[in-house]
Amino acid sequence: MRLISLFLLATLVASSAWADPADSQVQFQPTWESLNARSVPKWFSDDKFGIFIHWGVYAVPSYCDTSTYSEWYQHWVSTNAHDGLERKFHERVYGKDFEYRDFAPMFRAELYDPQEWAKIFKRSGARYVVLTSKHHDGFCLWPNKVASEVRGYAWNSVETGPQRDLLGDLTKAVRSEGLKMGYYFSFLEWENPLYDSDRDAYVDRVALPQMRELINNYQPDILWPDGEWVSSDTMLRSTEFLAWLYNHSPNRETIVVNDRWGKGLRGKCGDFFTTEYGKWGGEGVGQGRKSFEECRGIGHSFAFNRAEKYDIYASRTASVRLLIDIVSQGGNLLLDIGPTADGRVPLIMQDRLFTIGRWLEVNGDSIYGTTRSPFKELSWGRATVKGNTIYLHVYDWPEDGLLEVPPLANKITGAYLLADQQRQPLSIKSLSTKGSSVDLSGYHPELHATVVVLELDGPPKRL
Ligand code: GLC
Repeated sequence: MRLISLFLLATLVASSAWADPADSQVQFQPTWESLNARSVPKWFSDDKFGIFIHWGVYAVPSYCDTSTYSEWYQHWVSTNAHDGLERKFHERVYGKDFEYRDFAPMFRAELYDPQEWAKIFKRSGARYVVLTSKHHDGFCLWPNKVASEVRGYAWNSVETGPQRDLLGDLTKAVRSEGLKMGYYFSFLEWENPLYDSDRDAYVDRVALPQMRELINNYQPDILWPDGEWVSSDTMLRSTEFLAWLYNHSPNRETIVVNDRWGKGLRGKCGDFFTTEYGKWGGEGVGQGRKSFEECRGIGHSFAFNRAEKYDIYASRTASVRLLIDIVSQGGNLLLDIGPTADGRVPLIMQDRLFTIGRWLEVNGDSIYGTTRSPFKELSWGRATVKGNTIYLHVYDWPEDGLLEVPPLANKITGAYLLADQQRQPLSIKSLSTKGSSVDLSGYHPELHATVVVLELDGPPKRL
């Protein structure tokens, strides 16, 4: 009886927070059919490049097997994973009785300078940022009261650890640099008594109010849920939440969301589909009408992993080409960094971001606002398109100086190197059915990828 009335009360409280259904702004119904028909705000597919940040209590131990993710530290220790690697480390360094929650006061962020972070992101050429507001450990980077209440100990970054609204401060700084701000949010929570005992109550009292608090108080441009694979969308009340978000939230015009809204739904719902380290999360993803976003770290972990050695990190060239590869497939890249517990962005990550930024300064036209390559495969590199222009990204410089372009139905009206401010015309030889070739002899390849611009008499069409 008590349980039922508690549930009723929670439902009441929750539904009063949703806006009045008679409101004229109602465009979307709480069904996937209606929600999936939304036209995705264009900024997202134009912006192409974002920075993902995995930061939280797990940045204190910052350790795990190098094949995996260090934000899972608590789980690896408690399940004795990887032949006990993390468990042994934990006992040796912190002691047998040291609990995961004991890391919170050690997460101090004493060198955290959100303005400096925002400048780093700006310099990388990224146009948006996605921060872990709450990962699977349930720790909130903003002053969310229920996070602590439900556990019975301080479990947000204002009540313990840094004693600061890490998320709010970063949001302001990122926006002051002209970038968009988004939040990752985990439905899954380890060691949350309510999550384990009564998932419905957890959704009503914790997850949904937390997401609404993020939306109402900080108005993010992206909401990026995760940890959905154990719960159905019905249990998470996802369609109801999204109908509110799209119809009534203060940022309803610009917000975009990913596809992680319930078990089995990746690749089937949301404004964009997600891939992770090149793996599709669901059947058929990427084949539908939606755009996709690839997320991955510069090393193997999302959160900083102190066990990762230099060679695990992508090289400068690989980092630039990763962005090009994804964009040439029509996707966005959400490249992850893992700051340290004291609030620094590791220098090797900065190095890769600045490298991408330097390349984009010259070659950004070939990335932002483009669409996927018109060619199935190019032996020497990749391509993107904007209007009547094809951008050719040359990875392997042709030995004879002649860059072969597969046949097109269009006429090529001009060609030049994007890095060439004079736009000196390159000569084109037509090889008829075999396509054309651009004469690059006398020119030199640029670092990481050289961009050749082809101007056509219309939008590119393959023969
Ligand atoms: C995963 C992982 C996680 C990471 C994320 C990013 O599902 O559990 O640690 O945050 O996806 O895509």
